[in-house]
Parts: sequence; structure tokens; C-alpha cells
Amino acid sequence: MKFYTFATAQHLAQHLAQELLTLIARKPKAVLGLATGSTMEPVYAEILRQNLANPVNVQQLSTFNLDEYLGLAPEHPHSYNYYMHQHLFHGLGLAKHQVHLPQGNCADPDLECANYTAAIAAAGGLDFQLLGIGGNGHIGFNEPGTAFDTPTHCVELTAQTREDNSRLFDNPAEIPSHALTMGMAEIMQAKEVVLVITGAHKADIAAALATSQPCPALPASALKQHPNARVYLDAAAASQLQAGTASAVA
Ligand code: GLP
Repeated sequence: MKFYTFATAQHLAQHLAQELLTLIARKPKAVLGLATGSTMEPVYAEILRQNLANPVNVQQLSTFNLDEYLGLAPEHPHSYNYYMHQHLFHGLGLAKHQVHLPQGNCADPDLECANYTAAIAAAGGLDFQLLGIGGNGHIGFNEPGTAFDTPTHCVELTAQTREDNSRLFDNPAEIPSHALTMGMAEIMQAKEVVLVITGAHKADIAAALATSQPCPALPASALKQHPNARVYLDAAAASQLQAGTASAVA
């Protein structure tokens, strides 16, 4: 796992959007693993901006999102399905059959998770997985303590995660207690992974990740065992890294 720094989140987004559009141009049937959260908003805005200026063919692309809140219907404004349509799918013009998220309002969460794992496998696995990180080191909603070989599963969110994400809900008490998340197993099987960490509020977890051994207590540390994983940080998130940990890109 290599660490790369960018002067600002905007520089990072420009670089990453260019990499993703280049991947799609090279492999039109690419299977992308996508993430939600504030961190991804400039990345998706930049993909849409660059694709408008210099369009690539996205009609054969497939996407699989990391996670969804249990109990929220796809059209619920706080669902990740809604977020993805708002920030990326609508702008790129992706058809319904191209995009996949676990269904939050499914009748049988365990069956939904097993079907999601099977759908990723049927698509040939993930070519590229985009990740953000939670304040406690979670990736997707794989909370601390999750074994690295866990497939897509239903998870009870930790108090810290509910607290961190409640800012996005009108009424913090409305935040769901559970979520469906792609597992560490599917993430680790992706051919290429980029973990994005931006903002001063993520500097501590970025520094902990840099020095940690691979350990389920810090789920993102699993990426140290991945053959092709990169961490992209803006200067604020990289501020607590020891000298020599990261290479500067822009
Ligand atoms: C949620 C998502 C994660 C995301 C994290 C960070 O917990 N399940 O996939 O990485 O939020 O979000 P943000 O980018 O808003 O800090």
C-alpha cells in the first residue's frame, strides 16, 4: 500500500477522475466499486466535468456500491442509492441495469447480501474499488473487528459511525442502526483499490493507518496486504504522517 499526497482535495479529485475515465476508456466493460460520503463528492463532480469536456463511452460499464442503510428504500433522500443517482449516475447517464447497490428495504437482508456477493462474482469481480474511510477506520461499513475474509453482510453500526454520519440526517435520531455492506473479502479481491482521505478531521486516522500492521481493529489496514492499493490524501489529512511516508503528486 503506497501513500500519495495532493495539495488540495480538488487536485486529488482531478487526478483520480482522470485515472478512472482512463480506465473506462481502456476497458469499456470495467466493473467499478463505488463509495459514498462527503469525500467522494468532489471526485464525482470532477468525473462529470471531465467527461462532459471529453466524453468516454460508459454504456457497458457496471458499478457496485459499497453499502446501503438497512430499511431505507432506494428513493429515500438519505439512501446511498439516492446519493449515487444525484452525484454520479444521472449525470453520466447510466442505465438501471448498469448500477448495483444492496437494496436497503429488502425483505431478507442475509439473502440480499448473498445475492450481492454472487452478483459481483458473476460480473467477474471488481476492476477498481474506490474507498473512503470512517473516523474509526471502517471501509464500506466494515466496522472494527471485521475479519478480512468476511463477505457482504448486514452490520450493526457502531455508536461512533452513527454519530459521524448523523450530520447528513435532518433528525440525527433517524439514522438507521444497521447497514448492508460489501465485505472485506470482495474489497480485497478488487484488482486495484484507491482509498481517499481528505480533511484535517481525518489526519489522526490517516496517521494510525500509516503505522498500523494489518489488523481487523483498523479495517482499512487490510489494504496493506493488497497487491495494488493506494492511499490518496490531501495536505490536511496527511498533516500527521511521519516524514517519508508519502510521495507528493500535485
Ligand atoms: C460512511 C460510508 C463509508 C465512507 C464514510 C466516510 O460511513 N459507509 O463508505 O467512507 O462514510 O464518509 P465521509 O466521506 O463523509 O467522511
